[in-house]
Amino acid sequence: MNILVTGACGQLGSELRLLTKGSRDRFVFTDVAAVPEEGIAALDITDSEAVRKSVNDNDIQVLVNCAAFTDVEVAEDNVERCELINGTAPGILAAAMKEVGGLLVHISTDYVFGGNPRTTPYTEDIPGAPTGAYGLSKLHGEQAVIASGCRHIIMRTGWMYSEFGKNFVKTMLRLMASRPSVKVVFDQVGTPTYAADLAGAILQIIGMLPSGGGTTSPSGENSGSLEKASPDISATPAEGASSPSGENSDIDGKGELDTTAIPAGCVLNYTGEGVCSWYDFAKMIAEYSGNTSCEVLPCHSGEFPSKVRRPSYSVLDKTRIKQVFGLAIPHWTESLRRCLEKMGKLKT
Ligand SMILES: NC(=O)c1ccc[n+]([C@@H]2O[C@H](COP(=O)([O-])OP(=O)(O)OC[C@H]3O[C@@H](n4cnc5c(N)ncnc54)[C@H](OP(=O)(O)O)[C@@H]3O)[C@@H](O)[C@H]2O)c1
Repeated sequence: MNILVTGACGQLGSELRLLTKGSRDRFVFTDVAAVPEEGIAALDITDSEAVRKSVNDNDIQVLVNCAAFTDVEVAEDNVERCELINGTAPGILAAAMKEVGGLLVHISTDYVFGGNPRTTPYTEDIPGAPTGAYGLSKLHGEQAVIASGCRHIIMRTGWMYSEFGKNFVKTMLRLMASRPSVKVVFDQVGTPTYAADLAGAILQIIGMLPSGGGTTSPSGENSGSLEKASPDISATPAEGASSPSGENSDIDGKGELDTTAIPAGCVLNYTGEGVCSWYDFAKMIAEYSGNTSCEVLPCHSGEFPSKVRRPSYSVLDKTRIKQVFGLAIPHWTESLRRCLEKMGKLKT
């Protein structure tokens, strides 16, 4: 299978590069600027001609879109650019993949929620209601993918960290090493996601698809994997096709997919297991890294003036991905330990 990855220099893209070393599939890694020494080619996802050329020249069956404008604060002052990359470009990728009958795996975010605050986890069928420019642009990206008619999997995740790029874990380690105390908000609740876990989940799902990423066979045989496994799976916020009961009654729950095709598309939630506030997350980073010199103090969001209102609760319900694909998802604390160990920061 030929698989194109965009945004390969980012957190998720970098973890995908690590995990696919030695894979039998052919991966084409790209980012907005080339990094020849890392085998990364230049591909700007906002350039439709370049995207089509890359998909066609490389005979791509699956495209994993990790590229995005991810700075939620900066997004508020750069709405146009943010919309172009997060809102419009996913439609460009979807159009190119539709032309070749391929599958688009598009990464989205818990930030599509927050405008209609909840206190129970968000299932995939709850309509998006973002609180800022970043979340709105990502919701537009989801809608563009769905509207394209391209076969797709939209994977929503949240609170991502890894050894790569900028993220909360690295920021906390830096602050804890240089300050007597650090204040962290306790009134925003979600679930941390180790990018390596998400990368593994994406590869596991792609690996369950038939060669060609779920393309219907030339003979026209189509046993309709996801469609057969669950009519609900193709439900999306835009389509509003959730079952009234919310029960996934047709999911067999065994992860035994007859993966001849993905007829339409689906939205899947993926984060670590469990729930915490940013304060809890910071406390655990301190504990696992053996920090004793810096006190971690809880505070309200209001203490940090921000251009963007962040979701106060953005826990994602992962029932669907676990039932349909049989994924085992680690608890966020276990993943944090693994990440810190990999970074050489775990207290022994
Ligand atoms: N980080 C999180 O906490 C989080 C949470 C939920 C969902 N997500 C989603 O998960 C996905 C991956 O996030 P991440 O944290 O890995 O992101 P990231 O580290 O910011 O990486 C994104 C990559 O995309 C590149 N990029 C930006 N504009 C591009 C363009 N026009 N064409 C091609 N590449 C472009 C970036 O390059 P530059 O750095 O040069 O701009 C960067 O290398 C994104 O869809 C994001 O929205 C992230």
